Amino acid sequence: MLGHLPTGVVVVTGVDALGEPAGITIGSFVSVSLDPPLVGFFPGQASRSWAHIAQGNGFCANVLTDNQSELCWRFAQEPEGGLATRFDGVKWTKSSSGMPILDGALAVIECSVESVTPAGDHHFVLGRVQQLSTNVASHEAMVFYRGKVSGVSSHE
Ligand SMILES: Cc1cc2nc3c(=O)[nH]c(=O)nc-3n(C[C@H](O)[C@H](O)[C@H](O)COP(=O)(O)O)c2cc1C
Repeated sequence: MLGHLPTGVVVVTGVDALGEPAGITIGSFVSVSLDPPLVGFFPGQASRSWAHIAQGNGFCANVLTDNQSELCWRFAQEPEGGLATRFDGVKWTKSSSGMPILDGALAVIECSVESVTPAGDHHFVLGRVQQLSTNVASHEAMVFYRGKVSGVSSHE
């Protein structure tokens, strides 16, 4: 049913205790509070990538554009070479706090983890925004709707 509700798409990235990058495609990213600045998302309890990201100090939400479908599916599926190869061939840079920023992301929201709460078979991860950047020259935002990704078009 909820496939009928369109969402934006972010790749939540971070680093594990060994400093290795990890990332997961997330449609449940949500704005929670302006003051203080809080955001959140719901990773599955079975998510191995979230287990890695949770070992670090925070996470980075990379908002995808409509021409980044390859990244959307890459971070939602297990690569043939296993999870450790997920970043192979992906262009990214490290933020000042060491978080992976994906090239071409429409917006990048770096957060510290405020709390992690069990929510059924998922967790609710509440993050406090530490840094924000946007890429105005970038494409339109990606939208996920009924199992497919597309873009948004703006109307006057
Ligand atoms: C558009 C899209 C949105 C998704 N949103 C979520 C989400 O909000 N929470 C979640 O747990 N998984 C979500 N997924 C599924 C995860 O990306 C997928 O289960 C991923 O393989 C988990 O990998 P992991 O085991 O490496 O962590 C989404 C997938 C797609 C394609």
